[in-house]
Amino acid sequence: MNSDETDLQNSMLETMGFFAAGIVHDLNNFLTILIPLMESLKKDPSLSKSHCEEISIVLSGCHSLKEVGKRLLNFSNKTQIKTTLFTLNQTVEETIGLFSVAKIKLTPNLLPDLPPISGCSANISIALMNICINAVQSVGKNSDITLSTGIYRPDGKKPDQVDNLYVYLKVKDNGVGMSKEDVKRAFDPFFTTKKEGNGIGLTMARKVVEEHGGSIEIESTLGKGTQITIFLPTTRNTIDS
Ligand SMILES: Nc1ncnc2c1ncn2[C@@H]1O[C@H](COP(=O)(O)OP(=O)(O)O)[C@@H](O)[C@H]1O
Ligand SMILES: [Mg+2]
Repeated sequence: MNSDETDLQNSMLETMGFFAAGIVHDLNNFLTILIPLMESLKKDPSLSKSHCEEISIVLSGCHSLKEVGKRLLNFSNKTQIKTTLFTLNQTVEETIGLFSVAKIKLTPNLLPDLPPISGCSANISIALMNICINAVQSVGKNSDITLSTGIYRPDGKKPDQVDNLYVYLKVKDNGVGMSKEDVKRAFDPFFTTKKEGNGIGLTMARKVVEEHGGSIEIESTLGKGTQITIFLPTTRNTIDS
């Protein structure tokens, strides 16, 4: 990307931040009503265990939405982000749980005992949600969406040389796929091929991943499907750099 393109993208992101403030205000109004309502519903003694679990998942989704709001507000600024140690598998399992409430099946293929990453799990989970929503929107009847995790060593170093240890997460779908031209533009702010799209999802996902010192890649074949891979460093914390 040349410097003119970078300037253009930055000013687009700033404009987006401005409009986002209004949307976040409305979003928070709804959440202020929804969260206490669901918390009180959860206490209803006549509720079955499975319904109670579903309400917990929806509640956790609402809390993630609050984070989405913060994220949107700070879109064009460097943010003070809450940093914790967590594993990608935890984030994937939470996301799968959230989609299952909406009766959407995402298949996990997780490598156990992944080394933890340091960062903002809510933001990584928002990035993952955006990627999964795209996958869900791209598939038809015989949908197959698989979320795989694993370990990646960029230069083949031994496992104890943890400085170079990355974890990866692949979201693979058998949906409509993308043309080569669209793959090149997929991360551009506001790029969308959808009637009701906004073109923000992948821009946001890439920003979050890069803030964690990671990278994101797309492989896609028109008519066959798409695979989006996120790589995240397991030890370095580059968020406040
Ligand atoms: N899994 C996918 N399969 C097919 N196309 C995709 C996929 N993910 C992203 N895209 C393409 O990238 C574009 C940008 O995605 P995104 O930034 O999330 O915006 P939006 O979903 O609002 O269009 C989409 O409009 C679509 O053309
Ligand atoms: Mg999207």
